[in-house]
Amino acid sequence: MNPHPLTVTLDRDGEEPIYRQLIQSIKLQIESGELNAGIRLPASRDLARQLNISRISVVNAYAELRSEGYLSAHAGRGTFVARDANGASGDQPVSVTTVTENTAPDDSIRDLMRMGRKAGVISFSSGSPPMEFFPVNHLREALNTILDRDGVLALNYEVPEGYAPLRGAVRDYVSALGIQCSPNHVLITGGTQQALDLVIQAFLNEGDTLITENPTYIGMIDIARTRRVNLHGLCTTEEGIALDRLENYLIDNDPKLIYVMPTFQNPTGHVMPMHRRRQLLNLANDYNVPILEDGVYHEFRFEGEPLPPLKALDDHGIVIHASGFTKMLLPGVRIGYIVADGRYYQRLVRVKQAADISTSGLNQRAIHYMLERGVLSGQLERNNREFLHRRNAALEAAQKYLPPGMRWCVPQGGLTLWAELPRSGPNATELYITAIQHGVSYAIGNVFYTNSGGNYRMRLNYGAHTPEKIEEGFRRLGRAWREMAVDYEEMDKSPLL
Ligand SMILES: Cc1ncc(COP(=O)(O)O)c(C=O)c1O
Repeated sequence: MNPHPLTVTLDRDGEEPIYRQLIQSIKLQIESGELNAGIRLPASRDLARQLNISRISVVNAYAELRSEGYLSAHAGRGTFVARDANGASGDQPVSVTTVTENTAPDDSIRDLMRMGRKAGVISFSSGSPPMEFFPVNHLREALNTILDRDGVLALNYEVPEGYAPLRGAVRDYVSALGIQCSPNHVLITGGTQQALDLVIQAFLNEGDTLITENPTYIGMIDIARTRRVNLHGLCTTEEGIALDRLENYLIDNDPKLIYVMPTFQNPTGHVMPMHRRRQLLNLANDYNVPILEDGVYHEFRFEGEPLPPLKALDDHGIVIHASGFTKMLLPGVRIGYIVADGRYYQRLVRVKQAADISTSGLNQRAIHYMLERGVLSGQLERNNREFLHRRNAALEAAQKYLPPGMRWCVPQGGLTLWAELPRSGPNATELYITAIQHGVSYAIGNVFYTNSGGNYRMRLNYGAHTPEKIEEGFRRLGRAWREMAVDYEEMDKSPLL
């Protein structure tokens, strides 16, 4: 649909600011019926040019009219009149979402998921690697050796940037993935979660907008809520974040950062192909918006050809790479890192220092010790071999036990299966309590969405269980679904919570 031309008369010498005059004029045209619901308005850039005013005036006017319900914005499509003269709303499809603290996904679903932690329940809901894989003996040896070797030095404050030998080891580790950097661009953090949080604090103020994939990592939704930044979720397909929608959004808006997980995205498990990685980088460069790359599952590949992280393709220093040794080695030791170019690095170090002075020097030394002795590579090799085995067990059990019409993506790495229940039966929230009664739980898809999407989706962590447990868990899940589906037609469809 072509944009509808707007006629606006402005009093350039008047006291009323231009953007307020624009608001009044558009409101008047909607209320008088001149502009009807569904009409597409000119892009902010075009209207600014036409009226010879600054683009920011148009952006502000559109934003205020959106917040008052007069307009709506749809990524990839433009800005539309959202109501008629009589106040009735149009029926434009809602394809993008903005989450603020008040509209974030319902906490009651998370509360519901806590019920899945009961004894006897086979839980597919967490994102953790199996505990029996943790290299406990290596950690014990590392700690004993370090305390003998470094004594109290290992227990003093560390510098905020991190223990220098570990920063060097991270440089070596990421360079094997294709990321060229110096240890002076490596900042050690308290896990990847803190890495993400520090970047958000360094780049966004309250009310600023962060672009994410939708669905996205639940921990990032939490960060956005607590830091009071707006999340703008753009749908993600097997090829990653929708780049056409991203570009449309960038044209008219001023987000401060783009957050993506290019390899084994959480929760979908998708991998962004090479050409899309380059396109994303080009877009970020063109619009000068930095990218926060979360690489926490990058090395969890058991099938297919590895792809370089975005940071390895980043010629302009616009990517901030965050990852950690938590999922690969020991979640509880809480060692993560950021790789960022000089122009961002100092800012991040200051935020890190303000957050917690430094990450535990003892734990940094322990991880360094293990990296030096090749524990990580041995661990990755063993884990990925076992995850492949478990993935195959999950696919087999899914075929055998899950409801007909259920769909899933076949992951080439990572720990989880992203699945969709058939629409003919209960959705993932409705099924949950029956599933627990049958002794199985999963992550309800809803919690990963920046809007209320994903009702029929679930994420199943097969990586955390032996093939026997996977088979039994999927059998229980199938039984729970069948029990509910039998009389689903007659079921009370009122919300469970
Ligand atoms: C995509 C993603 N990023 C970051 C994290 C946080 O990881 P860490 O334990 O290193 O803080 C997780 C944990 O589940 C995750 O799934």
